[in-house]
Amino acid sequence: MTAPTRPTYRFYTATSLDGFLADEHDSLDWLLSQPTGDQSILPMDDFMAGVGAIVTGRTTFDWVQSHADTVEGAWVFTQPTFLFTHRAPTQLPDGITQVSDSPAEHRTAIEEAAQGKDVWIVGGGDLAAEFARAGMLDELFVSIAPVTLGTGRPLLGGRFDLDLQEHGVNGALLEARYAVVGERDRPPRATMAP
Ligand SMILES: NC(=O)c1ccc[n+]([C@@H]2O[C@H](COP(=O)([O-])OP(=O)(O)OC[C@H]3O[C@@H](n4cnc5c(N)ncnc54)[C@H](OP(=O)(O)O)[C@@H]3O)[C@@H](O)[C@H]2O)c1
Repeated sequence: MTAPTRPTYRFYTATSLDGFLADEHDSLDWLLSQPTGDQSILPMDDFMAGVGAIVTGRTTFDWVQSHADTVEGAWVFTQPTFLFTHRAPTQLPDGITQVSDSPAEHRTAIEEAAQGKDVWIVGGGDLAAEFARAGMLDELFVSIAPVTLGTGRPLLGGRFDLDLQEHGVNGALLEARYAVVGERDRPPRATMAP
């Protein structure tokens, strides 16, 4: 059997200026109240047209499900989806597969599902960081809202070097697209060569 073509793994998200995906109550009010324009460097529809498979953490999935009656809610995506959770298996909508632990363990299944298209890491930030550590995160696209939250769910759970590829302004949001260079590797001073 031939190995599937490696897709591009993309974390497409929005953040507060101080690096939170959601506040400590998982609210996105601070984001959804921002005026957006029509000048995005990567409109959601264009992005989604390239997506073949989706990866989400359980809190993010639950948030979408619990807002199914709002314009922002409901799991409307038709691409095969991998839901990371340690919970016991539950009845899920068609196309959603429950998985857990290391992203690398699910790499073949994810890449077969993506069929050569992109993989969208929806969030959260710790799961995105696990993908980055596994060498399964190529790009971070962020819309940055002009608000600080002080505390909440972190954008990316770790220390990573990024390389700015593109930036723009869309309404109140700053947009930036970064290539993920890799995890920062700074050995403590004492272990460095004399
Ligand atoms: N600003 C935005 O555009 C944006 C984008 C995405 C998300 N969000 C919001 O940001 C928040 C993110 O929540 P979060 O930080 O809690 O992250 P999350 O990744 O959505 O959820 C964390 C949960 O995912 C499961 N999980 C993560 N990694 C796993 C692994 N390797 N194996 C098994 N299970 C794993 C665990 O669930 P169990 O406890 O079930 O084991 C964990 O408690 C949510 O409120 C979401 O709505 C905002």
